[in-house]
This record gives sequence, C-alpha cells and structure tokens, in this order.
Amino acid sequence: MPNTSTTLSTSAPCPESIVEVQNLVYAYAKQVPVLQDISFTLNAGDRVALMGATGSGKSTLLENLIGLKQPKAGKIWINGIAVEPRNLPQVRRHIGFGFQDANDQLFMPTIIEDVTFGPRNYGVPPALAIDQARQLLADFGLEAYANRSAHELSGGQRRLAALAAILALKPTILILDEPTNGLDPAWRRHLAQVLLKLPIQVMLIASHDLHWLGKVTQRALVLAGGRIPLDADIQPLLQDGKTLEALGLPVDW
Ligand SMILES: Nc1ncnc2c1ncn2[C@@H]1O[C@H](COP(=O)(O)OP(=O)(O)O)[C@@H](O)[C@H]1O
Ligand SMILES: [Mg+2]
Repeated sequence: MPNTSTTLSTSAPCPESIVEVQNLVYAYAKQVPVLQDISFTLNAGDRVALMGATGSGKSTLLENLIGLKQPKAGKIWINGIAVEPRNLPQVRRHIGFGFQDANDQLFMPTIIEDVTFGPRNYGVPPALAIDQARQLLADFGLEAYANRSAHELSGGQRRLAALAAILALKPTILILDEPTNGLDPAWRRHLAQVLLKLPIQVMLIASHDLHWLGKVTQRALVLAGGRIPLDADIQPLLQDGKTLEALGLPVDW
C-alpha cells in the first residue's frame, strides 16, 4: 500500500498496482500547491470516479498521471514504470487519455484521419485502421462526419469523435476528463454503455455528473484542499448528501 504519511517517500510501487501515486505535490508557477499530498492506488478491475469541486485540481492530477505536468514532489507509477520524461513513450502506450477540452485531441483535417492517426503511427495497416475507425465512428453516430473537419461538429460530437480516437488505440488504462460535457441524456447513457463493455483494466473518470458516475464507476476518490479526504465505494457516497455537501459536491445542482 502507498505511504499515506506526509513524509515524502521514494519506496517502490506495489507489484500488482496499475496506477500508483505516492505523496504527489504539484504547484503552478508562483502559487501555493494545488495538489498538496496525494496518494492512491488503482488495481486491475477498478472503475474509479475522480470527484471534486471546480478548481479542486482534477484536471491537474490527471495531467500529472500521464507526465504532461511534472510534480514538485512525490512519485507516480503506471504498470510499475515510473512516470518520468525518459519513460513517457512506454507509459503512454497503454493509456487512453481524454482531455477536458476535446479540441485538444482533434488536430487532423478530417475526423477519420484523427481516428486513424494513432493506430497508423503504431503500424496498423491503413486499410485496417480505416475499417476500425469507421466502426468506431458508427458506434458514436458519426459515420456521416468521417470526412468532415472537427470545426463542423457540435461540442458533443467533437467529444464523441475524440473518444473514438482514444478507443482506436485499444488502451488498457482509460483516463477521461469530464467525458459527458456537452452530451444530451441519450448520449450520456450510450457512452456509459460503451464504457461498461470495454475490456479495460483501469478506468479513472473526472466528472461532476454524479448520477452518471454512479452508473459507470464503483469507487470514488474525492479531491478537496489539495488532498484526497475520501476514497470509498461510490454507491453509499451518492446516498450521503451531507458528506457530499461538506466536500463541495451538493447533489442535484
Ligand atoms: N495553467 C494554469 N496556471 C495557473 N493556475 C492554473 C492553471 N491551470 C489550472 N490552474 C489552477 O489550478 C487549480 C486547479 O485547476 P484544475 O486542475 O483545472 O481543477 P478542476 O479540473 O478540478 O476544475 C485552479 O485553482 C486553477 O485556477
Ligand atoms: Mg477540470
């Protein structure tokens, strides 16, 4: 188990952990640390909600996990590999990461090129990459948009296209930042069904959509005050309005 004391630790990760974070501290330039002492472990089969008020540091934490941001202190391991600049290609090979802003994910002239970009980079033959991309776009109701630019899609459609691009890489670890933003109830339900069917080892999803998180995840990590004051089963937490309110997460608002 990770060391949860405030003493910074450099001990090795648990052999069976998929994601392990020990005493992580992160600060933006000239500011007090937004993440002050974060420790948790995700194991195979974990589907985890990352909850916390706006500005609590959810996106910052997720970006630390894939090495987009460098912690001030503490350690992160993915599949036992330390998240450090020299290991990043190896660390990222198995992670699907969905940015809070889907525009950060779509950069090719057409949607089909966005969805085939990753697989082609990893050597999947073009015809196969295109077949798989068309299937993913069909799953997300975007087959008619394959040859259009991301600019011609609605916010929700861009989010679905970004998800198709992420899933095209067949990740074993899926990290999503606010994946239901811009989606109507029918698409939120469809996305939950798609995610529940994926052969994923570990899922970590930051969201404010408590009801949706209750359908997709089993465990909740709550970020508040730069720490994780709560790591518990999500169902009892969703019934506990007082605790949610105290953590800055009022229900039904
Ligand atoms: N690039 C940045 N420079 C400085 N401060 C930032 C930057 N990005 C985020 N922050 C601050 O860090 C805190 C956490 O932000 P963020 O991780 O985006 O929170 P969340 O995803 O939970 O809404 C906020 O107070 C935010 O203002
Ligand atoms: Mg965020």
